[in-house]
Amino acid sequence: ANEHTGVKALMDNGLVTIPGCYIKPPSHRAVKHLIVPGVEIPVIDMAALESDREEFVQTLCMASSEWGIFQVFDRGEDEVLYGGGVCASAVLYKYDTFSRDSYGVARSLSALLFKQRKGASMAGKTSVLQVNELDQFGFHEIACFLGYCRRLASSYVSSVKHLSQTLLSALSEGLGLDSNCLAKSFGDSEMILRSNYYPPCPNPDLALGMNGHTDSGGLTILFEDQVGGLQARKGDLWYDLKPIKNAFIVNIADQLEVLSNGKYKSIEHRVLVQPDQTRLSIVAFCNPSRDVVIGPLPEFIDEQNPPLYRSTLYEEHITNVYTKYLDGKHSQKLQIN
Ligand code: SIN
Ligand code: FE2
Repeated sequence: ANEHTGVKALMDNGLVTIPGCYIKPPSHRAVKHLIVPGVEIPVIDMAALESDREEFVQTLCMASSEWGIFQVFDRGEDEVLYGGGVCASAVLYKYDTFSRDSYGVARSLSALLFKQRKGASMAGKTSVLQVNELDQFGFHEIACFLGYCRRLASSYVSSVKHLSQTLLSALSEGLGLDSNCLAKSFGDSEMILRSNYYPPCPNPDLALGMNGHTDSGGLTILFEDQVGGLQARKGDLWYDLKPIKNAFIVNIADQLEVLSNGKYKSIEHRVLVQPDQTRLSIVAFCNPSRDVVIGPLPEFIDEQNPPLYRSTLYEEHITNVYTKYLDGKHSQKLQIN
């Protein structure tokens, strides 16, 4: 194993013990007695929005303030599309050469499938080149396949964008704000699509598919296969999110916690790996524009309720999180005496 060998490639070569770089220190491993199996994470049906909007808003608001993570049924959308998107992204991992300290690979689908601004296009270009060089498929077949993936991903993005806008309006109302208030605070919001591939792991107790973290942006919408492994943390305990067929998993991310001055919770989550199954997920990050300043909304601040977070340019916040290894939303938290 070297730094260019991804876990998928290692597995394909008959790996029996994982390389040291993937082994977590004991304090970071998943410990059985701290895992709560049978607890229900809230499940929300988007259809309820039509029948009783007020009750829907209340349920959503409760799920977002008590948990910060919930599962969502959005019936009426094309379920095959979601499954297809997951499958299509799986094929791309055939060409994986990535390495991460987590026992999974994550690749930005937006970079691969869409023309991107700024630096992102390089990543896409590299992946496409690898595809061309490595496979027995001809260029034409690869191009067709990527074209197919792009169309699939485009429809997926439209559905997920619609869902995120509906949820953001209801979340605004849940805070007693105008329904467009949170979306407005995000500015010209940005969506990043990422697909994750978690190969089977011969030593699942020693590794993690993804380390515990909170998401930096606004709202995260995830679609996964039926393998499971995602867990969310409340206090010292980790809660399993049981996969529900054709449901999305939605979590509140840091900037919504900040805007709401702590009312909505950006929950920490992680991914376990399985001894004998590959897991796939597609994650859509609905984020504020990088050039907006996010801080607690003035509506929530008065003498009794001081701001709990600093206002920060979103671009600066993500730079802090990714380059200075600051601890996500905690880096934005103010000391209150
Ligand atoms: C993530 O937290 O970004 C990925 C979670 C997952 O793959 O389920
Ligand atoms: Fe995440």
